[in-house]
Amino acid sequence: MIIEKDNYYILHTKNTTYCFRVLDTGHLEHLYYGRKITVDMEEADNWAQSGMEAFAERHTHIPGNTNTYDREHEHFTLEDMRLEMSSYGKGDIREPFVELVQADGSATCDFLFEGAKISRGKEPYQTLPGSYDDSGEAAHLTVTLLDRQYGLALELHYYVYEDCDVIARSSKLRNDSGSTVTVKRLLSTQIDFATSEYIFTTFSGTWGREMHRTDLLVQAGKYVNASYTGTSSSRANPFVMLSKCGATEDAGDCYGCNLVYSGNHYEAVEVNSYGKTRFVSGINPQAFAWQLLPGEEFEAPEAVMAFSAQGYNGMSQCMHRFVRRHIVRGEWRDKARPVILNSWEAAYFDINERKLLQLARAGKAVGIELFVMDDGWFGDRSDDTRSLGDWDANLRKLPHGLSGLCDKINKLGLDFGIWVEPEMINVNSRLYQRHPDWVIDVPDKPHAEGRNQRILDLTKTIVQDYIIAKMSEVFSSANIAYVKWDMNRTFSDYYSRGLAPEQQGEVAHRYVLGLYRCLGELVRRFPKILFEGCSAGGNRFDLGILSYFPQIWASDNTDALCRAEIQYGYSYGYPMSTVSAHVSASPNHQTFRETALDTRFSVAAFGAFGYECDLGAMTREELKKIEAQIALYKQWRDVLQQGSFYRGRSFRDNTNGGSVLVQAPGNHMEWTCVSPEGGQAVGLVLQKLTMPNTQYAYYQARGLAPEKKYHFYSGLPGVREDYQLYGDALMYGGVCLTQGFYDGDPGGERCLYRDFDAKLFFMEEE
Ligand code: GLA
Repeated sequence: MIIEKDNYYILHTKNTTYCFRVLDTGHLEHLYYGRKITVDMEEADNWAQSGMEAFAERHTHIPGNTNTYDREHEHFTLEDMRLEMSSYGKGDIREPFVELVQADGSATCDFLFEGAKISRGKEPYQTLPGSYDDSGEAAHLTVTLLDRQYGLALELHYYVYEDCDVIARSSKLRNDSGSTVTVKRLLSTQIDFATSEYIFTTFSGTWGREMHRTDLLVQAGKYVNASYTGTSSSRANPFVMLSKCGATEDAGDCYGCNLVYSGNHYEAVEVNSYGKTRFVSGINPQAFAWQLLPGEEFEAPEAVMAFSAQGYNGMSQCMHRFVRRHIVRGEWRDKARPVILNSWEAAYFDINERKLLQLARAGKAVGIELFVMDDGWFGDRSDDTRSLGDWDANLRKLPHGLSGLCDKINKLGLDFGIWVEPEMINVNSRLYQRHPDWVIDVPDKPHAEGRNQRILDLTKTIVQDYIIAKMSEVFSSANIAYVKWDMNRTFSDYYSRGLAPEQQGEVAHRYVLGLYRCLGELVRRFPKILFEGCSAGGNRFDLGILSYFPQIWASDNTDALCRAEIQYGYSYGYPMSTVSAHVSASPNHQTFRETALDTRFSVAAFGAFGYECDLGAMTREELKKIEAQIALYKQWRDVLQQGSFYRGRSFRDNTNGGSVLVQAPGNHMEWTCVSPEGGQAVGLVLQKLTMPNTQYAYYQARGLAPEKKYHFYSGLPGVREDYQLYGDALMYGGVCLTQGFYDGDPGGERCLYRDFDAKLFFMEEE
């Protein structure tokens, strides 16, 4: 719901309130964002004095040594005001929301209120993906601000998703000045908090180590989370959180923010000299410079904000619901995802029809539903030095082509999928020989190397057209049910031959726009294909990609212990149905760690599930076990794929998800996934290292219906865990687990006892 009254704007979701007002000067003053507050409509006559004005600052004096806005407003200093958006140059010396170079060379701008409009529904952006609303849930507020000195118009958009407790913001700049303006930054959201001492939580890492949570108490100065790889990156995911000290997984104030964008992004938290906190998020301004011609518009991506007073889990529930209902779209949004077998870790580049069919047959025998041929099937691709760009089947490896192999796989009763990396090109390829000028590099200058490949210049329409046409040809050349769309290089030598020198600061963003055009067109042409995003694992895991593809390969690291940490990280901002996870071999190919097959299964089962290992090299016992795992997974697939995911204890924290201020590193991961109606749930306890002579192992559920009675069991023969318990008992009391050490069965199946052991627990309403 959006209320507009006496220059006040109040945005209510089910459990949150966001408000701001227009000041005499025309600036927008942010008043409040957080837990829902009552605004008394009865008092409407006396609106300004009642309720909302209490949040507003008095502006009766300004701090010493600061500038006043102008002569008429001697108590206004932009340096210490809470603003909905901040311009550069008029006295606000914090992170600006917008930064321009005007035609006269000045960097000063000043956007003041012009008007506002309230409407319903979600309008699509012209150039970018964004949330959508097919339920009529969204209310929309557009605020228009003008820089009257230069003739520029800035629109701030607010979309209120009541049910999800999400407010999505974006902005758009229009150049009515008659001259070209350089946009150096146009961010997506800004929140100015009245106080400081917030904990800024980011999810950083790199290849094989994505989404590691870091907490920082920001007391002074500025902390930046940003990517420079050209992608949203495994270095710093665009999803971040701000929480009040003392927040845990289950209680306390927590804000989450994510960006619907797949390129270089920027999130900063700044505490100013007067103890106020500013948070901003948007396209990374580093090396960004956009020439905005007279009459043109520039759109900033959508920022998605959620708040919950129920801690990190509460906020995650809002984000999960929102991503499922308003970001992920198409055929596969709510459809059961198949159990996949991927060839990569089974055979790497060394594939051929015979080998693949053998693997697929072994997969079919244990219950696999979809077989994926990964890298190595096209051109002369026998290693990573060649053939990207040559998207025709290698007939030595696949004598009957893609369709020949696909038919045979289909005949086995399996769906068939392929791997592609369309945005890339090897210098050693036929495509490069034909189009050396299609790559991103600085002409006649040395070029940095990355996995022996170059990035195609997707800022060029002709290159986009080529990708759309070639991929359409590949996808329609056989009965392809699934596509893994990879992107294995970070950007360097940013330069497009298709753009003028003064436009080179546009390359990174134009690339992303070009990519979105390709993805949008291909998804439209092939609505039945299940697309999975990938970028050297999780180097482009974001809401932009999820606007086209319903799932993303989360990491090339498939070690169960590492994967648990990585999936735990993703779970803060993303529903598990978007996080692709596979069981792989032991010892693991990335870490060489040995873990039990049960452990690998238990961790992967919480994501978009599959296997990625050489089934032919498995023992008969292992295959039997895998068959049982897949059968069990299918039985619980609806709960695991459609349910609500909750975190309990974790390796990084044994105190219920507390922040950096409460450091008690844990030995367990504890997860629960509850079916939409709450009648069924699956729980996980994963142990890191065995600790002799302790009785610490217990499991505590979350998200159950407190009044429902559940049958709780482990599913393992002979294990003590088999109880009838009420939801409240399972959640607030928990279950003490059988420990082999005390059972006199140290080596047995039923011990949650050895290093890296994991157990699943099942809960069903009586
Ligand atoms: C990337 C992906 C892997 C695999 C290889 C193939 O690294 O993340 O899953 O597809 O490429 O080259």
